[in-house]
Amino acid sequence: MRSGEEESAQSGAHGEKEFRHAPVLCKEAIDFLAVRRAGTYVDATVGLGGHSIAIASRLGREGTLIGFDKDPVALEMARQRLAAPEGRGEDWPKIELHHASFAELAVKVGAGVADGVLADLGVSSMQLDDAGRGFSFQADGPLDMRMNPHAGLSADQVVNQFGESDLADLIYEFGEERRSRRIARAIVRARPIKSTAHLAQVVSAAARPMNPPKGKGIHPATRTFQAIRIYVNRELEDLRALLEAAPRVLTPGGRLVVISFHSLEDRMVKDALREGARSGIWEPLTRKPVIASEAETAVNPRARSAKLRVAERRASGGEAGRRQTRFQQ
Ligand SMILES: C[S@@+](CC[C@H](N)C(=O)[O-])C[C@H]1O[C@@H](n2cnc3c(N)ncnc32)[C@H](O)[C@@H]1O
Repeated sequence: MRSGEEESAQSGAHGEKEFRHAPVLCKEAIDFLAVRRAGTYVDATVGLGGHSIAIASRLGREGTLIGFDKDPVALEMARQRLAAPEGRGEDWPKIELHHASFAELAVKVGAGVADGVLADLGVSSMQLDDAGRGFSFQADGPLDMRMNPHAGLSADQVVNQFGESDLADLIYEFGEERRSRRIARAIVRARPIKSTAHLAQVVSAAARPMNPPKGKGIHPATRTFQAIRIYVNRELEDLRALLEAAPRVLTPGGRLVVISFHSLEDRMVKDALREGARSGIWEPLTRKPVIASEAETAVNPRARSAKLRVAERRASGGEAGRRQTRFQQ
């Protein structure tokens, strides 16, 4: 088994590039899952496999890990990392990986099968750090932002083809950006916008406050990039589907652990668990979200915005679990 240090700092090769992704709140998430050797656990967001390896290491050969990721590159890297390590070949769980959205959880996993479901939402450091994927305003790259580069609209289509008011609505709704109208107007005027650096420059010029607060604020393009990424990847629709499916796929006593990175996601998780508690589906195990320690954020700044919430599937409440929950997207 890997040491804790190695487990929390994965590295790997993708072409000539080397990527790292330290799994956020890993110990806390795995402790909450309370992994049993013979259990079945779902990692809904395998990424580079950091959390998955930690789960697999606690399972025995009778156990199963089911993983999902929309990103075929990440999933292939995780597949290699999740091969049985030396000395555990006889005692390594069954690994079942799906190149699919976790919105398909209920279909792929089935009812009452999982002892735990983990979702570590958003994008991985690998996706952010690879300029060619177009997620980041820190490095220049093509406007893409798709977790699955083979499906759906790219950021280029949204930025260069959407009408000004649709663009403004999207930036307001998914980026919670007050200057959305001004930004949308600037984008439309600057078309064609062909790269992330170009978009960041146009948005920054439009979004910069007249009197910026002293000290370190977020980059003025942060909210707009977040909004386009959420839209392109249908992130909130998928999360809604995951939250509806989780009570169905979990066994009674099984746990749902969700790590979110922005307020739209966290609010959705909080509301779903609260509503589920009212209708007898969930027993919430975290009254307030668990956040990363100073020690973790010092080595992994991405952990700063992470919020972890956990709920346990109650034995009753099955019918209520099939009811539609109310969400806004
Ligand atoms: C924060 S990373 C997960 C990192 C992972 N826990 C690790 O330790 O390496 C999120 C991953 O989830 C994937 N993802 C995001 N939304 C998804 C969805 N709806 N369905 C499947 N995968 C998704 C992304 O492609 C990304 O690889």
